[in-house]
Amino acid sequence: MKAILITKKGGPEVLELRETATPVPATGEVLIKIKAAGLNRSDIYSRSSNSYGKKESGEGASGGEIPGLEVSGHVTACGPGVRRWKEGDAVCALVTGGGYAQYIAVPEGQCLPLPEGISLEEAAALPETIFTVWLNVFQTARLRAGERFLVHGGSSGIGVTAIQLATALGVTVFTTAGTDEKCRWCESLGAKKAVNYKTEDFEIELKDVGIDVILDMTGGDFTPKNLRLLREDGRIVFINAMRGNESSVNIAEIMRKRLVLTGSMLKPRDTAFKAALAAEVEKNVWPLIARGAVKPIIYKILPLEEAAEAQRLMESSGHIGKILLRVS
Ligand SMILES: NC(=O)c1ccc[n+]([C@@H]2O[C@H](COP(=O)([O-])OP(=O)(O)OC[C@H]3O[C@@H](n4cnc5c(N)ncnc54)[C@H](OP(=O)(O)O)[C@@H]3O)[C@@H](O)[C@H]2O)c1
Repeated sequence: MKAILITKKGGPEVLELRETATPVPATGEVLIKIKAAGLNRSDIYSRSSNSYGKKESGEGASGGEIPGLEVSGHVTACGPGVRRWKEGDAVCALVTGGGYAQYIAVPEGQCLPLPEGISLEEAAALPETIFTVWLNVFQTARLRAGERFLVHGGSSGIGVTAIQLATALGVTVFTTAGTDEKCRWCESLGAKKAVNYKTEDFEIELKDVGIDVILDMTGGDFTPKNLRLLREDGRIVFINAMRGNESSVNIAEIMRKRLVLTGSMLKPRDTAFKAALAAEVEKNVWPLIARGAVKPIIYKILPLEEAAEAQRLMESSGHIGKILLRVS
């Protein structure tokens, strides 16, 4: 099969389209003929360093790693013991690397049917951000209807999913983004107020809100501001620290407001964890997609061969929503 391989650590130019062995589904796995693959920021870290999450799977025959954490396509073969799926089924799946390819073998529990009304290609935009947002915002931070929620990076793949999901579930959403255009776009998606963090101080702009939950990918200098914005019993969940891993926190403030600070990485979690999360996502989020309350927001679709260009686009942060690779 053809696949994009990370030939060595470096810039987008190290991504090369090569022939590599087609995977064989093991016990409990299905083989998917990939229609489309979603890009995620983590793909950039896999290519440029080993520092984000754990490097695993996606090993191609020539020894390089195949990036890609989510795909859509048709099941073309089932390994022993597969119960839910059969040849020809259309699915989307959360994978642990290996998505930028023509085929991938995936544990059956990490596959989901296409939500009603979603095309096979669009479905590649769903798994990674929906699993991440459901896990961190709704399971871990227990965001509830009537609460106030701040998500940084509102125009990111994660941000557009978080804004839509929280809005659909009766939450008031606030967000930040790096341009006025992105901010207005986030407001059109459902955010009550979006702050351009490059031209305004989001702490000043949101100081009277009283935030219950923050989904944060920024860390660094934003952390003290975030903690000050949280009301009593507020929760903050870190999913990255794009502004730096080191932050100063005021411990008295944590005690006084009974704040909860936590975080997680989805990629290194095991198959059983991802399958259990998939079941929760199917039960709670798929109906919201079927009734149009949550939509895949797709900025651009490029052919698999242009994976390097697609990653350049993501690194430029010029996009709003998801970037996809069209495979077949
Ligand atoms: N822990 C996990 O399990 C997990 C899972 C999925 C994703 N993530 C993380 O979630 C984030 C979003 O992922 P994605 O795939 O949706 O990526 P993406 O679409 O590339 O979004 C990245 C966002 O980060 C913002 N940004 C970049 N540098 C920033 C800075 N210095 N200060 C503030 N904002 C900054 C950009 O916004 P502007 O251009 O508007 O500044 C952009 O919206 C990434 O950091 C990713 O690593 C974590």
